[in-house]
Amino acid sequence: MKVSGLTTPALVLDVNILNSNISAMNRILEDSTLKLRPHYKSHKCAALAKMQIKNGAIGMTCAKLSEAEDLCDIGVEDILIANQIVDPAKIHKLADLANNCRLTVCVDNIDNITALSVAAKSCGSIIHCLVEYDIGMQRCGVLTKEDVLALAKHILNCDNLEFDGLQAYAGHISHIEDMNIRKQMTAENYNKLRELISYLTENGVPVKTVSGGSTGTSEIKAAEGLYNELQAGSYLFMDATYRSLSLPFKNSLFILTTVVSQREGLTVVDAGVKTCGTDQGMPVLYKGSAGEIVASEEHFQIHHYTENTNVGDKMLIVPAHCCSTINLYDKIYLIDGDQVIDRIPITAKGIGR
Ligand SMILES: Cc1ncc(COP(=O)(O)O)c(C=O)c1O
Repeated sequence: MKVSGLTTPALVLDVNILNSNISAMNRILEDSTLKLRPHYKSHKCAALAKMQIKNGAIGMTCAKLSEAEDLCDIGVEDILIANQIVDPAKIHKLADLANNCRLTVCVDNIDNITALSVAAKSCGSIIHCLVEYDIGMQRCGVLTKEDVLALAKHILNCDNLEFDGLQAYAGHISHIEDMNIRKQMTAENYNKLRELISYLTENGVPVKTVSGGSTGTSEIKAAEGLYNELQAGSYLFMDATYRSLSLPFKNSLFILTTVVSQREGLTVVDAGVKTCGTDQGMPVLYKGSAGEIVASEEHFQIHHYTENTNVGDKMLIVPAHCCSTINLYDKIYLIDGDQVIDRIPITAKGIGR
């Protein structure tokens, strides 16, 4: 089938660009001790997770327990939930899931650690723990080395838990356009992390794993060698937000839309905030440029589009944020040139629990 024959809006993935993004990441990591543990939230597709593992990923990162269950279901053996799981019912499910895969979870609270230990003991499983250190993002995690040490020691004293190391995700740096500023801020974080790791080691707590990192910092982290796990997700698809960073990855994910209305200076397509993530801004147009783009639920109103279009024409747009866009669709069409070659389900779509 031709791409132009798809009913719109449709999420399409260029397989050749996807493969070149996978190769570009492998080249970044090839001489490094950094291993790829890609983030599932970016695609939520069992088929793409399998492809990443086949291409060298050591396991997967995910944000939610439900995503971990989806990954375990398809045979992923090593899963990190890069979040805190605190609800008692979820803790029980997590402990149970840890019987079926090597499961790691982030922690930043002493009572939560105790609850994980009790649940793992009752299920007869082992839960691996990373203490989350807030390296400047001001999301989850603890702020001082003393707090990290106290939590790590508590894990070491708890039954059925393993202390593996640290989660240190600096998401506030990922999208900074200027590479030098990204480098400088990462270097400052590395100083803090090195100090923390020495302090833990001096106090009898060796750190095996340092996990974190994003598409935007993958090259810097591969060169530095302090982290040993990279949680990049967007590198597979890229998006309009990452596009301005001059990374060695290209846009592979698009929304195919149809021009539904047109008049002087205004082109309207049939995708809007219900079919394109706008949390990081407006999409950009694959071909040509435009003035302002305004979003409503089912439309993007594109002002002063530079290309000639007619009502009924198909148009590709690049979403500003691939991760939030993915969660709006059930499937992705794989395309090669102007041909649709396959369709893969977004298996963890909408399971945000
Ligand atoms: C904890 C964590 N790790 C990794 C990533 C992946 O980042 P990116 O998609 O920018 O590569 C994210 C993204 O939000 C994240 O929250």
